[in-house]
Amino acid sequence: MPNPQSPPSGHPYRFTTIAHGDMSILGPLLPAELDGLVATAVAALPIGGAKPPFALDIGCGKGDLLVRFALRGVRGIGVDRNPWFIADAERLAAAAGVAGNLEWRTADAAVEPLVIGADIAACIGATGALGGPVTAPGVVAHLLRPGGIGLIGEAFWREPPPAGTAEAFGMGPDEMVDLDATVARVAAGGLVPLAVVRASLAGWDAYEDAYAGAVERWADGHPDDPDREAFTEGAAMMRATWTAWRRASMGFAVIVVRRAAG
Ligand SMILES: C[S@@+](CC[C@H](N)C(=O)[O-])C[C@H]1O[C@@H](n2cnc3c(N)ncnc32)[C@H](O)[C@@H]1O
Repeated sequence: MPNPQSPPSGHPYRFTTIAHGDMSILGPLLPAELDGLVATAVAALPIGGAKPPFALDIGCGKGDLLVRFALRGVRGIGVDRNPWFIADAERLAAAAGVAGNLEWRTADAAVEPLVIGADIAACIGATGALGGPVTAPGVVAHLLRPGGIGLIGEAFWREPPPAGTAEAFGMGPDEMVDLDATVARVAAGGLVPLAVVRASLAGWDAYEDAYAGAVERWADGHPDDPDREAFTEGAAMMRATWTAWRRASMGFAVIVVRRAAG
């Protein structure tokens, strides 16, 4: 079946696919921050083993993280439910010359049986795929072999949002907590936190601008599209809430963890 550039009108993944159209990292982390995470995870792996390390990335998006791992000799499987993102992941891996070390699966991680015994398991900005931020750390622990390294990326409150704003944005009351509580949730899942890498405000600003900007440029080029008005409103809402309160309140961090050995 041909894979068009973006989903057809009415498809639930259409807005997110267009909004992330210009990026390969689908979140506020900068390329250098991802490189740092990859280096930290590889360095933290127990030394030895005949085979190259194996990484699993849940909600892998366009596969940027796994491609960086593969460039350091790590094999991997990326799972994402969005086939348009997976198609981009395949292109990214081929362009980087590491397609042979990576496998991509278009699947819902909430229902698809996942490979266990990974040396590295990542779930960055996608804990909803593993039941949400409270249950995801336990699932990551289950996917890792003893001593394996996890990378759990989660948004957190840098400061409490103004009353009613998070709810109006569509968020549940405890969906996000502060950074200490976010790290505590990860530890409660049976993982030992090794490091916390916070996304910079510059990275967040760039992400929000690229996200809304991609939708605005798409709208300019599609004057008669039936989704144009709704998507333009969506992009405007994202810009307005970012400026009004999300920029002051929201943070994002990747918690590097180890599953206790034995
Ligand atoms: C914010 S993006 C992050 C993508 C990637 N980890 C990154 O940092 O570039 C969240 C990703 O999770 C994927 N996702 C959400 N729920 C999922 C599920 N139940 N199963 C598989 N993928 C899912 C989305 O399609 C999206 O690509």
